Amino acid sequence: MKKRYVFATNNSHKLNEVRAILHGQIEVLSLKDIGCHADIPETGDTLEANALIKARYVKQHYHLDCFADDTGLEVKALNNAPGVYSARYAGEDCVARNNIAKLLNELQHTLDRKARFRTVIALVEGDSEYLFEGKIEGEITTECRGEAGFGYDPVFRPEGETQTFAELGDEVKNKISHRALAVKELARFITSRL
Ligand code: IMP
Repeated sequence: MKKRYVFATNNSHKLNEVRAILHGQIEVLSLKDIGCHADIPETGDTLEANALIKARYVKQHYHLDCFADDTGLEVKALNNAPGVYSARYAGEDCVARNNIAKLLNELQHTLDRKARFRTVIALVEGDSEYLFEGKIEGEITTECRGEAGFGYDPVFRPEGETQTFAELGDEVKNKISHRALAVKELARFITSRL
């Protein structure tokens, strides 16, 4: 029988990405699939802490092996902000446009625009916990470019590319992204032990 893991998300885009990388070698269930409708509080102050909170929650309440992810944009000149607060950088109820406007404003007079996306995946399996990481280095552009993707994609240009994530489009992005790299690390670990 295939090994089963819960991925602590209801984001169908993330689920499909993970399932595609794992090539059906394991069964991946979403929170909805296990009847979990809780809004798991992300109260940690690091990506690692938040990913662990989500994975431990499922293990504790549903007794199933689980992995969870958390991602942040780390801008060098801002001491790695917004980081773990990327989703709510401009305030609790803000949308991507507000976050981007705040970021461009903060960097208005800054020449060093180096930034990275970093994804952490926490796996809670049996009594053990593991962390995996994926990151991509790049720069924050001075204006929005491109329509694809989400979040900060219109202002993030990966190193070695002339276009932003939002210009490159999902197909290219999903091959090189922070999340894809972290998922590949997880997949390598899980499949090496099948
Ligand atoms: P999450 O942990 O995947 O929910 O990501 C937290 C926040 O980071 C999102 O709300 C976005 O603002 C930002 N973010 C995460 N991944 C990406 C990405 O691939 N592109 C652009 N922004 C992202």
